[in-house]
Amino acid sequence: MRKQIVSGNWKMNLDASQSIELIEALKEKSLAADVSVAIATPAIHLESAVKQTENSAISVAAQNMHQATSGAFTGEISATMLKSIGVNTILLGHSERRAYFHETDELLAEKVNTALENELEIIFCFGEELDERKKDRHFDVVSEQLRKALFHLDASQWKHIVLAYEPVWAIGTGETASPAQAQEMHAHIRSVLAAQYDHALAQSVSVLYGGSVKPANAQEIFAQPDVDGGLIGGASLKADDFAAIVNAF
Ligand code: PGA
Repeated sequence: MRKQIVSGNWKMNLDASQSIELIEALKEKSLAADVSVAIATPAIHLESAVKQTENSAISVAAQNMHQATSGAFTGEISATMLKSIGVNTILLGHSERRAYFHETDELLAEKVNTALENELEIIFCFGEELDERKKDRHFDVVSEQLRKALFHLDASQWKHIVLAYEPVWAIGTGETASPAQAQEMHAHIRSVLAAQYDHALAQSVSVLYGGSVKPANAQEIFAQPDVDGGLIGGASLKADDFAAIVNAF
């Protein structure tokens, strides 16, 4: 049985008091016990979020880290720093990091290695852009992203990887992939994993869907056999909406 996971991605939203308020509101909600719940907060809120969620079912993830563990990289944050404040999960490869901060799959492969060396669990994001889907290249694009960033890993390392398929055209646009489109791609992802590794590994990795998931569409998306949960942007900023999504399985 694969882990069901719902992770919020707050992106660059909420100040310190809003962050505290949202976490308090989430702690009041009853969240399905069989779903792993995470929130990826801005780096500046991580330490207080970790303290605030102690003894709760919510875990805290970082949205980014540098590939080096220390050094002259002004403005950056390392895996060891994250670990030292109790953060155990990292989002890597988000399409906004790829688009605005020029993160390539080659760079992401380095970040993946550093994260694993530092015993961080990884939520690895990837997905095609609109023009790639229009040209019918989406399956190839996704296969390549996985190959370049992750296929150097040993099978044993995959227990620390969660995949998050996020078609770029569906992020923050209000346009969601249809449940059938999500299922089709998730099945493709498993077939690529099975070809590179084996069937058992492909069946064991949780694959989340991200892109305009909201309470109104979560149930239908999560009901797809190869969808194991979601990465939630906008709707994770409201406790009611996020809790409704967590409880949508
Ligand atoms: P969205 O963002 O839910 O606001 O579309 C998802 C994401 O970027 O992870």
